[in-house]
Amino acid sequence: MSARSPYNTLVTVYGGSGFLGRHVVRALAKRHYRIRVAVRRSELAGHLQPLGRVGQIHAVQANLRHAASVEAAARDAQVLVNLVGILFERGRQRFQAVHTYGAEQVALAASAHGARLVHVSAIGADSNSPSVYARTK
Ligand SMILES: NC(=O)c1ccc[n+]([C@@H]2O[C@H](COP(=O)([O-])OP(=O)(O)OC[C@H]3O[C@@H](n4cnc5c(N)ncnc54)[C@H](OP(=O)(O)O)[C@@H]3O)[C@@H](O)[C@H]2O)c1
Repeated sequence: MSARSPYNTLVTVYGGSGFLGRHVVRALAKRHYRIRVAVRRSELAGHLQPLGRVGQIHAVQANLRHAASVEAAARDAQVLVNLVGILFERGRQRFQAVHTYGAEQVALAASAHGARLVHVSAIGADSNSPSVYARTK
């Protein structure tokens, strides 16, 4: 990445609409990166666009439970940032599906596209933890 300027570096931020995500998107925008925000409902990510200049931040649909959408959001990106996490399970949003399967799909997409990967886990992540959240993180 050192040979590329931020202006021609595309960063896909999974979970970019979340609490940490909007700060990450703002920080990347300030540093002139091109940003693709990968969110489950792209129509709800409009609030992120004013964080950058016109056309700098673009939202696409992606659900970490669906590998094809994760892969599509990674296309042409040089960096993938995974900020997706859940604190409780509801419906199809299971810890295993989001934290483990989903994170694996992002890692596979990074590998397939030769992109750098930044994965945000959690303090206390431990495969032996009594907490399912911490085990799956
Ligand atoms: N905030 C903290 O203090 C803290 C501490 C330790 C670790 N972390 C980790 O840091 C990361 C970001 O945390 P946060 O506080 O910013 O969380 P957050 O505000 O809950 O944001 C999580 C993001 O994940 C997205 N998401 C959830 N399920 C998804 C799915 N199936 N596919 C795609 N996107 C999905 C959410 O979008 P939707 O609108 O689509 O749900 C949202 O954009 C997480 O991995 C979290 O575990 C945070």
